[in-house]
Amino acid sequence: MLGYGDEYFEIVEVRAMEVLDSRGNPTLMVEVLTRGGGLGKALVPSGASKGAHEALELRDGDPARFRGKGVMRAVENVNRKIAPAIRGMNSSLQRAIDLKMIELDGTEDKSNLGANAILGVSMAVAKAAADTRGVPLYEYLGGISARTLPVPLMNLINGGKHAGNELSFQEFMIAPIGFKRFSDALRAGCEIYMALRELLRKRYGPSSVNVGDEGGFAPNLKGAREALDSLIDAIEAAGMRAGRDVVLALDPAASSFYDEASGMYAVDGELMDREGLISLYEDLVREYPIFSIEDPLHEEDFEGFSDLTRRLRYVQIVGDDLFVTNRDRLRRGAEVGAANAILIKPNQIGTLSETMDVVSDAGSFGYRCVLSHRSGETEDTTIADLAVGLGIGQIKAGAPARGERTAKYNRLLEIEHHLSESDSPQYYGAKLSPRRP
Ligand code: PGA
Ligand code: ZN
Repeated sequence: MLGYGDEYFEIVEVRAMEVLDSRGNPTLMVEVLTRGGGLGKALVPSGASKGAHEALELRDGDPARFRGKGVMRAVENVNRKIAPAIRGMNSSLQRAIDLKMIELDGTEDKSNLGANAILGVSMAVAKAAADTRGVPLYEYLGGISARTLPVPLMNLINGGKHAGNELSFQEFMIAPIGFKRFSDALRAGCEIYMALRELLRKRYGPSSVNVGDEGGFAPNLKGAREALDSLIDAIEAAGMRAGRDVVLALDPAASSFYDEASGMYAVDGELMDREGLISLYEDLVREYPIFSIEDPLHEEDFEGFSDLTRRLRYVQIVGDDLFVTNRDRLRRGAEVGAANAILIKPNQIGTLSETMDVVSDAGSFGYRCVLSHRSGETEDTTIADLAVGLGIGQIKAGAPARGERTAKYNRLLEIEHHLSESDSPQYYGAKLSPRRP
């Protein structure tokens, strides 16, 4: 903080307005200004396959605007309630500011002010403080230890709620692990994406290369194996080795094809119970180099998760809807060995400091973290800085297509470039080398 007094960090202005996300739904943009001239601007993302236990995203419900999806109430909450409460506070006291908003809201799920309102301010405050200090956000968050670039889990085939096709599983991802630098890994991912486009077009016709919400292709395939085969073939067509240079990851998002009344899962036209689904995963893991499966079972099934985590010992099992970036749910999972990794989505919990607390808890439970975008995104790149700042080794930011996805990848390229001017950036890939028996 050399040369700066606290007064430079004082918050002098907080304002929000309604803007658009990548699906054309309204969301918040928040700006925070400090006395020292620091400006922080943040845009809030939004999910489609949301967990039932996520903090509440406040929408107006006024059918006359955006079919009820307007966020003017959340905007007003920032401008009229949060702004007066945090004006005058020191923007570098992130925890105190987040706590102030939590208290002001007064509910368990942030339903009073809206988690979208609170998160927008929380992120903008951190950026304003970083800007006041004159350092990039990743460095502000992580200091000099922030130099590890995450492995991108690139969602190349979209299904489930993110696509207009019949695939039950939501995300078929590649993880380019066998590279020394993030930029090389990203390039490999792009080359595989190009090869996949060519291959799908040849096999399934031109409409198969239309893209889904996260930029991955959304072909009308018969099932998960066809999608996985296409990925393997694309990796090989791009001149890389599946299982060594590049591994696969799934996010079935199982709550989206689970029927509570019957207790059955409908997977690619076939009904199965929990045991049937777990054995399907066991088969898939035997047949394909799958290193990670997210939300393999529905979001209330802690018991099933621990059974599956035990049985698929060498696979990263990620809880997204299961944990919803919530400390209490993570602790409950850790107690019974449900999953061995957690998906981190700041808007599931609503503040940056709570997000950081979950990341730190995960470390102490021996759980890995995967930082994640939402299917409804914006040009905001906070998660790229957060990944490097907190040393989170994996990031989900979609396919290398559509501006709101490439914004995150471009920011990571920029960070790697910055780091290589003064230091040697690390790439997390080697840490994910297959742990198979
Ligand atoms: P969502 O999906 O952003 O639509 O909730 C992302 C995920 O399930 O990981
Ligand atoms: Zn998920």
